[in-house]
Amino acid sequence: MQERTAELTQSLQQLQNTQLQLIQSEKMSTLGQLIAGIGHEINNPIGFISGNCSHIEEYVKDLLRLVNLQHQKLPHPDPEIEELVEEIDLEYLVEDLPKILGSMEQGIGRLKDISLSLRTFARSDISSMVEFQIHEGIDSTLMLLKHQLKDQGERSVIEVVKQYGELPPITCYPGQLNQVFMNIIANAIDAFDDLYQNRSVEEIAAASPHTIMIATSIQHEQQTVTICIEDNALGMPPEVQARVFEPSFTTKPVGKGTGLGLAISYQIIIDKHNGQINCSSTSGQGTKFIITLATSVDRKKISAIALG
Ligand SMILES: Nc1ncnc2c1ncn2[C@@H]1O[C@H](COP(=O)(O)OP(=O)(O)OP(=O)(O)O)[C@@H](O)[C@H]1O
Ligand SMILES: [Mg+2]
Repeated sequence: MQERTAELTQSLQQLQNTQLQLIQSEKMSTLGQLIAGIGHEINNPIGFISGNCSHIEEYVKDLLRLVNLQHQKLPHPDPEIEELVEEIDLEYLVEDLPKILGSMEQGIGRLKDISLSLRTFARSDISSMVEFQIHEGIDSTLMLLKHQLKDQGERSVIEVVKQYGELPPITCYPGQLNQVFMNIIANAIDAFDDLYQNRSVEEIAAASPHTIMIATSIQHEQQTVTICIEDNALGMPPEVQARVFEPSFTTKPVGKGTGLGLAISYQIIIDKHNGQINCSSTSGQGTKFIITLATSVDRKKISAIALG
């Protein structure tokens, strides 16, 4: 009887875990489609503005040339014109206009980057594996997290150091891999935020600059690539490290963490990609995640795994 109860409890636990993961991946795929949709929708208006901006620049240049020429040829214009020149402060206008156009172009450039990142990040090729340049995935993830990496309140800026090797495109589910990068990097950012809890100003001032190191490399013989994401934040004690991939395991307050990020990531790397993911951490020093993926996969094997 006792045995039976234990079995049932275990099955229930497993069911609950599966349910959580299903909910989470469903949420992410809906979210992924939404993000891709937004990325796509804003792309047209951005193109429109950006296309017009280059015409405006031309027209403005032409008009300024005309004003200059007129000024040269007619150094003593009609008083009414002189009055207007004063009123609109022509000298300042001529100086400021190109600057304004320049900063508008910068803004458009940023919008283009964001739109591209949204689309790269959310590539929802859920049903089939495709070749994907994973550096693009990491970069789009970083772009979406950009404002969280900036200094916030008392927390200083988090610098991202990239050491990218020369990687071939990897056969994978891009949208899902990006989710993994997002989960790991977001956790590192949370860990830096936590550094500031219960610390004195002196301790904080003595803390080393915050860095997230992202290194990739290829192992030609094994035909694998490795992605290493390492932070120098809080690290974790061994008893936490042992449980990070467990569904619903979190050390964060209710509302901040669901404890699913790494459980989902584990499922994506191990089950969906037949890869490996490992975590090593030293309490008080930092945390390192290492992901290993095959450069190309036996599709039959993978789909059998994914279905199973
Ligand atoms: N870089 C890290 N530094 C320190 N602790 C970490 C780090 N990454 C993960 N952890 C620990 O592992 C736990 C589980 O992480 P996981 O991403 O699965 O869940 P979560 O971040 O708590 O919640 P969720 O990701 O669902 O919002 C975290 O609560 C934290 O204690
Ligand atoms: Mg997390």
